[in-house]
Amino acid sequence: MKLLEKLGGMEKAAIKEAVEASSLDDLEKLRVQYLGRKGVVTTAIKGMKNVAKKDKPKVGKYINELKTKIDSLLKEKEDVFREQEQSMFENNDMTLPGINIDIGHRHPLMQTMQDIIDIFVRMGFKSVVTPEVETEFYNFEGLNIPKNHPSRETFHTFYVDGGRLLRSQTSTAQIRMMEKEKPPIQVVHAGKVYRPDAVDASHSFMFYQIEGFMVDEGIVFSDLKGVLEHFAKEYFGESVKMRFRPHYFPFTEPSAEADISCFICGGKGCRVCSYKGWLEVLGAGMINPRVFECVKYDTSKYTGFAFGMGVDRICMLKHGIDDIRLLYENDVRFLKQF
Ligand code: DAH
Repeated sequence: MKLLEKLGGMEKAAIKEAVEASSLDDLEKLRVQYLGRKGVVTTAIKGMKNVAKKDKPKVGKYINELKTKIDSLLKEKEDVFREQEQSMFENNDMTLPGINIDIGHRHPLMQTMQDIIDIFVRMGFKSVVTPEVETEFYNFEGLNIPKNHPSRETFHTFYVDGGRLLRSQTSTAQIRMMEKEKPPIQVVHAGKVYRPDAVDASHSFMFYQIEGFMVDEGIVFSDLKGVLEHFAKEYFGESVKMRFRPHYFPFTEPSAEADISCFICGGKGCRVCSYKGWLEVLGAGMINPRVFECVKYDTSKYTGFAFGMGVDRICMLKHGIDDIRLLYENDVRFLKQF
């Protein structure tokens, strides 16, 4: 009998769906689908009037049994879900502390770098990125450090194939940017530099530098002092003083090294400043006209200043870190402190 076959198929489908149901909501949907007012079983009952008289008892009995079967199947499953729900509540102590998700944070070096860049960007400097694999021209010649120039020694360098090198200073950005853009120009450039130094508490074969420079008509040494003093106060604190000592760099003339008064002891002398009261933080000077000649800037019209600082050193000073290797070992116990 066709109808019985159809009802048999329905029974199988209902059992399968009930088994697969994964929530009380699913069960409710099945109840409506099969046993609801317009449900499949109800429709079958209504269709009884079309069944031949002799078949009626058999079909009727089948439908009734089917109805009970589906109903108890759904009830059984519902009991299981309710029990699970109950035990979840009972086993859950809502007063326990939540799960702490460790989202991490930026590396102290990157924080230092970003904080310093932000200060210069607020003063109108544009932050740029340039290549780490450089030519000798950008790392040396353009910056007035020709071959055999004694100062080249201080920039010990890793050479790679094809006459290229890993830049040993971020001053490379001076040439790269001035070649591309005309004055007025105001740039900060942060990134990695490489030198084949033996690794110890204060040396690493790779470290970070920030270079900055500004060129326009009428730029003088006091502009350099003003910009750097503003930086020092912003970064190390209002009460910090800055002093400049004469120095030599090939790409600046005159050149200076700048110190800040020790922000730990206020200049009285302590362990951090080796009892000197001052901390060396950067090199700087007025850009050498030879550099301008290299990038075809009119030396009778333009002047400018440049400065360079080690990010690692500043990060170490700021946080009282006494070994540069700690910054590169990726020991989370150490990094978590910052
Ligand atoms: N490039 C220099 C270094 O690596 C740092 C430096 C000194 C940059 C003086 C400058 C500067 O722009 O004027 O030691």
